[in-house]
Amino acid sequence: MIPIAKPWLGEEEKKAVLQVLDSGMLAQGKKVAELEKAFAEFIGVKHAIATSNGTTALHAALLAHNISTGDEVITTPFSFIATANTISMCGAKPVFVDIEKESFNIDPELIEKAITPKTKAIMPVHLYGKAANMSKIMELAKKHNLIVIEDACQAHGAEFIKTNETTKTSEASKTETQKVGSFGTGSFSFYPTKNMTCGEGGIITTNEDIVAAKARKIIAHGSEKRYYHDHLGYNYRMTDIAAAIGLEQLKKLPRFNDARKNNARYFQEKLSSLTNIILPKIDEGHVFHQYTIRIKNRDKVLEHLTAKGIQTGVFYPVPIHQQKSFSEYNQQSFPVAEKIAKEALSIPVHPQLSEEDKEFIVRTLTEINHSLN
Ligand SMILES: Cc1ncc(COP(=O)(O)O)c(C=O)c1O
Repeated sequence: MIPIAKPWLGEEEKKAVLQVLDSGMLAQGKKVAELEKAFAEFIGVKHAIATSNGTTALHAALLAHNISTGDEVITTPFSFIATANTISMCGAKPVFVDIEKESFNIDPELIEKAITPKTKAIMPVHLYGKAANMSKIMELAKKHNLIVIEDACQAHGAEFIKTNETTKTSEASKTETQKVGSFGTGSFSFYPTKNMTCGEGGIITTNEDIVAAKARKIIAHGSEKRYYHDHLGYNYRMTDIAAAIGLEQLKKLPRFNDARKNNARYFQEKLSSLTNIILPKIDEGHVFHQYTIRIKNRDKVLEHLTAKGIQTGVFYPVPIHQQKSFSEYNQQSFPVAEKIAKEALSIPVHPQLSEEDKEFIVRTLTEINHSLN
């Protein structure tokens, strides 16, 4: 079976974990601080705060921005449930806005209509490793004085490419890039399927000193000084064992991302003539946490691929507004998200795919494409 995801751990991670075990400092210690420094540098922000997972990173980021009961946060209905859950966990209300079918991300053209006097923040998700349209989102946030909290849980190292139109530069061909997680306050996940892992882990990135200080307290029961508690908080801290793995993975992340990009380019070239498959829109900033095609008869195709030994992923079969746990939203309609939820199919793109694996995936999809004619 060619798996949809395969964490790549080596001797370096094993050695680093053993060092932590030998040190006897298993909870927060030197390794967490080192990871925070290295990750902040990598993203290009002043602060990074490591957490126990991506969900707790999102929750603490929202709380650090004082999101609470009565507030509305605009986000996408096409994401992992944690995006909306963490908004609800603050007592705030997620307000969904439909997505663009080409990028799978929130459609910035629809955001303004969803803004009300209660709107406090926008939470774009950089789904599958592709940056949401951050120029337009930041412009709207500025205009309406809104906070931006980026769900970058799937987008370690992804860059938003600002085109001429958005940078308004006089040099026609100039483009600028900026890493996701550095526009507003970012949250990342280090779950094992992600572009880099540390088992379970997460991290918040921000340039704002006050937000960083507050987030740091929220993840430690509201305390700065041990056993002195200023407000409600949680134990959302990362362990030194996890951070030791994360540090080694971060060093390898550029290589992992390059391999993902190369695999995606290969599929893009080899699958481009298949008339029944819609390929993702790709750009240089995309880090391909997933390579997601759109196809009719998705579930049949999935079965066929599974039978051939190719594992696929359906991220996500049910948009958030149609989930039972969000029953008060079930009557709402987001046609693009609903359509994509029926058509999206992620195929393996991880860095450990061999040439043979990729050829086999292309051959199998080509056969399936003919059978769909
Ligand atoms: C878009 C998105 N948001 C949030 C999360 C939550 O991260 P974690 O699983 O580390 O809690 C994930 C992880 O799958 C995710 O993909």
